[in-house]
Amino acid sequence: MAHEELFARHFESMTGRYADAIGSLSRDKILIDAVLIHSGSEGVYFADDQHMPFRSFAHFLQWLPVDRPDQMILFQPGKKPTYFQVVPKDFWYEQSVVVEEWWAQHFDIVPLSSADEVIDQLPPLRRIAFLGESTGFAATLGLPSSLHNEPRLRSFLDYHRAVKTEYEVERIREASVLGVDGHRAAREKFEKAGSEWDIHMAFLETCRITEFESPYPNIVALDEKGAILHYQNRRTASGRGSKVLLIDAGCRVAGYCSDITRTYTRDGASPVFKALIDGVEKIELGLVPEVKAGRPYPELHAEAHRRIAALLRDTGLCTASVEEMVTTNITNLFFPHGLGHLLGIQVHDVGGHFKDDTGALAPPPDEYKYLRLTRPIEVGMVFTIEPGFYFIPTLLDAERESDKGKALNWKLIDELTPLGGIRIEDNILVTNDGARNLTRGAS
Ligand code: GLY
Ligand code: MN
Ligand code: MN
Repeated sequence: MAHEELFARHFESMTGRYADAIGSLSRDKILIDAVLIHSGSEGVYFADDQHMPFRSFAHFLQWLPVDRPDQMILFQPGKKPTYFQVVPKDFWYEQSVVVEEWWAQHFDIVPLSSADEVIDQLPPLRRIAFLGESTGFAATLGLPSSLHNEPRLRSFLDYHRAVKTEYEVERIREASVLGVDGHRAAREKFEKAGSEWDIHMAFLETCRITEFESPYPNIVALDEKGAILHYQNRRTASGRGSKVLLIDAGCRVAGYCSDITRTYTRDGASPVFKALIDGVEKIELGLVPEVKAGRPYPELHAEAHRRIAALLRDTGLCTASVEEMVTTNITNLFFPHGLGHLLGIQVHDVGGHFKDDTGALAPPPDEYKYLRLTRPIEVGMVFTIEPGFYFIPTLLDAERESDKGKALNWKLIDELTPLGGIRIEDNILVTNDGARNLTRGAS
């Protein structure tokens, strides 16, 4: 289906959702006449005149793919939404906004040359809720402070953002296709002994993006750096002596993200480490068919731990039984993060810990405190599945003399630690009959 049609349906869902939010809140006596969604204000660094990179607020981007500060949408039930398009008269920066008919036709577009001018354009309604970071700006417009980021309104919208429209799924899929191309180039650069910097640049160049356009800073880790979960540096030294690459990198399309991780070895890497990569990949792919609407996502996470435990046993890294490893949390030493998270306009999309759309929380259990998704799986959700297996000295060293540590093969651990870690990550759409992997077979 063409973008135009997909967006038209997405737009219809959005207007329906906002109307539902207002209706739902009114039943609890929170009365809202309209919602003004602000993309955000541009920041400068402290005591400096240089602007920080800007990214629009996700609830704004869900309406419009415009990554510019001070843009606003006014939603009023039953009316065509207004897009206040602020284009300052300025000759220092490019200020124009690219307007594309496929989305523009759904809005009344009101051009303004400064955000303040919006005050003369707002309808004479008393209860305009404001969504956005710049609540000081909302106050200057006279919008009631009790409706600045009203928690119930935000919870409702955050909760429902987990289930994607077809338009959103298509954008994430496109971001995945692009990311897969970048990963291919990155792998080739690694095979030619590229440095972390070379591999990072190969990814960006192939995707034709600058670093700032990435959904999150690329993680390009050779060898031991792979054990730093969000490793942020890009060493320029040749990768000639390196054996392992862990690369976690994605793309954005119209604001929607992909989030993809691969781990590769070069000749000469330890066969046990290679077996671990194969094992983690098998766990990742094997969990996709386990995705079923209605199943709590934490069950998948717990299943991943059981499979990681079996891998520890099969590779001779741990002599304890699978059940023992899981109950004593030995697997947490090697797989300390969550199995995955919601994915959308934010790479860690919001709402993963919500129990319902009122904002009640379902926090993760103590033993899996980093799990970002505790909700039951629903058709239309997009999330990642990303099991990992790392040799993290700060976690492991604490167990060298402990009871738990007695079952571990320290000689093998010490041999594998310089190779860092493994993560395999794909982007998964929940369907009526299971799941679709948007990353594999995407191009
Ligand atoms: N790229 C960060 C993550 O995988 O969650
Ligand atoms: Mn992820
Ligand atoms: Mn990732």
